[in-house]
Order: sequence, then structure tokens, then C-alpha cells
Amino acid sequence: MTMTILKVNGQMVEVTAEPNTPLIWILREQLGLVATKYGCDKGSCGACSIHVNGELIRSCVFPLSAVNQDDQIMTVDGISQSKYLDTNQKPHRAVVSA
Ligand code: FES
Repeated sequence: MTMTILKVNGQMVEVTAEPNTPLIWILREQLGLVATKYGCDKGSCGACSIHVNGELIRSCVFPLSAVNQDDQIMTVDGISQSKYLDTNQKPHRAVVSA
């Protein structure tokens, strides 16, 4: 087991896992970020998608050893609480031309 510090959804967190542990299990089981879903476990369905430094990755096939302390990890949980979603905005209306 290795102790690692990660930056997840803007917060520094300490996790302990084997270096080859897929990131999805660290996010869900150690950090409780369950909006990152488990699907195919093969990198095909996209249910486990997260951003690492703005790049979309499949966390079920992305090991802990592939990230470091400087990387910015963003999950669906973090996006839903971030400045990127302005819940005070009025809904946009679709304009349909006939
Ligand atoms: S669980 Fe399907 S791509 Fe990761």
C-alpha cells in the first residue's frame, strides 16, 4: 500500500492504495465520490469518466500510479458543486424555426 496525496475537485486529499488500483475505486470507496459510476470495467462505456488536467479519462482503467499530486482531478461530484454550473441562471429556451 502506498499513501498518496491527490487534488480532487479542488481539495487536497490523502489516499492509501496499491499503485495499480484503478482510480474509480479510490474515488468511490475512499473518497465517497459515488457519482463516478461503475459500468463495463473495460474503458468502453464511459460511466466512470472523470477529468484529469482537463482531459477526459476512463477511471476504471486509469491506475493511481498514473496521477501525481500536481494533477487536477475533477469528478461529476465536483462539477455539480463548482462554479461551472450556475444554478441561479434561468433556463435557456430552445428556439425552433418552422
Ligand atoms: S466502467 Fe465503463 S468505461 Fe469505465
